Amino acid sequence: MKKIALGICSSISIYKACEIIRSFQKEDYEVQVIMTENATKLISPRLFSALTGRRVIVDLFKDEFPDEIAHVELAGEVSLLLVAPATANMIGKFASGIADDFLSTFHLAVKCPVLIAPAMNEAMFLHKQTQANIKKLRETGVRFVEPEKGYLACKDEGWGRLAPVEKIVDTSFQLLHRSQSFAGRIFLITAGPTREYSDPVRYLSNPSSGKMGYELAREALQRGAEVILVSGPTHIIPPPGARIKWVQTAEEMEREVARFFPKADVLVMAAAVADHRFSTVSSQKIKKQKKPKTIHLVPTPDILQKFGKKKGKRILVGFAAETEKVEENALKKAMQKNLDMIVANDITKKGTGFGSDYNQVTLVFPDGKSIRSSKRTKSEISAMVMDVIEEKIGKGS
Ligand code: CTP
Repeated sequence: MKKIALGICSSISIYKACEIIRSFQKEDYEVQVIMTENATKLISPRLFSALTGRRVIVDLFKDEFPDEIAHVELAGEVSLLLVAPATANMIGKFASGIADDFLSTFHLAVKCPVLIAPAMNEAMFLHKQTQANIKKLRETGVRFVEPEKGYLACKDEGWGRLAPVEKIVDTSFQLLHRSQSFAGRIFLITAGPTREYSDPVRYLSNPSSGKMGYELAREALQRGAEVILVSGPTHIIPPPGARIKWVQTAEEMEREVARFFPKADVLVMAAAVADHRFSTVSSQKIKKQKKPKTIHLVPTPDILQKFGKKKGKRILVGFAAETEKVEENALKKAMQKNLDMIVANDITKKGTGFGSDYNQVTLVFPDGKSIRSSKRTKSEISAMVMDVIEEKIGKGS
């Protein structure tokens, strides 16, 4: 699929969109231009129609474009949504999920990577609200090509000038390349906690929110993988496009992993699987008066260890939540479970790990090598993990 959507907002740098279009065409990409109403006041859509040979889309419900669900159809056809130039207004709309014109509606309909190249005056760009909007979008996986410092239309020197066209185009191609890097691969990803019940209302569990596993699934999807997400109970929204298998207990998780493991190319166990379950599970609520004097726990199956033995050519990635000797313990687990990599984190650190939007991890490899990250969003950590998997796939693992 060699088609991209180019969103064009009203900015003095709008003329640079012509060069952007040409750069994609040189690489045989079809470009569907979507303009905002204000952008059409600066340049006629006819210019972009002439350049692309396609009707420019401006309005959701214009008569000359009668297909009301065109945004949904087109969303399935493009492999990148690039917005260049993007105004503070459009960034704000994207960040808040507003869908009141074609471009902002389209943003909510696409599953492909989204890249934004902002252009505005310095005060607007540096305004706390704009920066908060950019941060929020980054957390949802949207990428930015930062504007540069230079001469602005308001006759000021400052931040806010549209990034050079080559930089916008290079970043786009990197994303496009990546969006296909897992094409044809099946990723089996587990996420969230498991619950081990003693009766219908009581269980053993842990505070895992599932965010890390869901971000990994989102990242794998963005790179073109087919994703099967085996999820314990969570309150977060699964990434669109993933095939979800809901489970409660470790045994149910093991069953689902066993079902899909034979056809999987990659298994990522991000789930916080409970290590023990109750030896007996009462089908009725256990009454206070009948509370047992002792509780017997038995081990749950170690899913990763079991499938590590059947690894074959698959790539296996584990997670290790540690409170001490983080890298040492993680390395032991990587070796015991026959993993290609284990993502270790110190759960005693405040503001990262369980339930947080952030994580700080060390990727530990069975040969003892490791890569440390700074505190980053779970979306960024997922990209880091998937970059390593991508390299391994490239090397024919
Ligand atoms: N894991 C698993 N099945 C289990 C327990 C853990 O598949 N019953 C997986 C986790 O999903 C994770 C990795 O094994 O990817 C390490 O999990 P962790 O809980 O850190 O380690 P354990 O092996 O359970 O060891 P310990 O609890 O003693 O640290």
